[in-house]
Amino acid sequence: MQERIAVVPGSFDPVTLGHIDIIRRAAALFDRVIVLVVINPVKNTSFTPEERGELIRKSTADIPGVEVDLYKGLLVDYVRSRGAVAIVKGLRAMSDFEYEFQMALINKKMLPYAETVFLTTGQNNLYLSSSLVKNVAMFGGDISGLVPRQIHDEVAARLSGVDSGKLGKEALM
Ligand code: PNS
Repeated sequence: MQERIAVVPGSFDPVTLGHIDIIRRAAALFDRVIVLVVINPVKNTSFTPEERGELIRKSTADIPGVEVDLYKGLLVDYVRSRGAVAIVKGLRAMSDFEYEFQMALINKKMLPYAETVFLTTGQNNLYLSSSLVKNVAMFGGDISGLVPRQIHDEVAARLSGVDSGKLGKEALM
C-alpha cells in the first residue's frame, strides 16, 4: 500500500515541546511525517533555517518515521512534490483559529486533495509558543519544560546572548 505522508510546517524558531507533541502524535497517525521549516525571507528569526532544522532533528531523533526538510515557497507546492496527503497543524487557544482557518481554506483551494488536520494542543502547551520561549530566555528565565531537553542548553545559550534591542516584534512572533 502507498505510504501516507503528512507535512508539519512551521517557522520553528525554535522548536518547542508543543511542536514536538504535535509531531509525535502526527507520527502515530501517518506512515511518514516531514517536519518542514518554511523559510520566510521577510521574517526576522533568531535561528537560521539550517539551525532550526538541526534543532528539530536532534529533538525528534527518537520518533520513528520523522524527517526534517527546509523549504522556501508555497506550502502546497511542497506537499504536492512529496506526494503528501495531509498538512498537520497544532491548534492552541482560540487566537490561533482564525489565521489557521484562513490558511487551511486557501491551501484547500490550491490543492483540493490535501487535507489540513488540526490536532488540539496538549493542555500543558496551551500557551506555549516560540515567541514565549524567546521572551523568557532573553531575560534569563528558565526554559526547561518549554523546549526539548536535547536542545535546551544550545537554545538557552543562544537566546540569552541576544541583544534584547535587536529582538523586534517580528522576531518574537
Ligand atoms: O510557525 P508559523 O510561522 O505559524 O508557520 C506558518 C507557515 C510557515 C505554516 C505558513 O506561513 C506557510 O504555510 N507559509 C508558506 C507560504 C504559503 O504557502 N502561503 C500560503 C498559505 S498562508
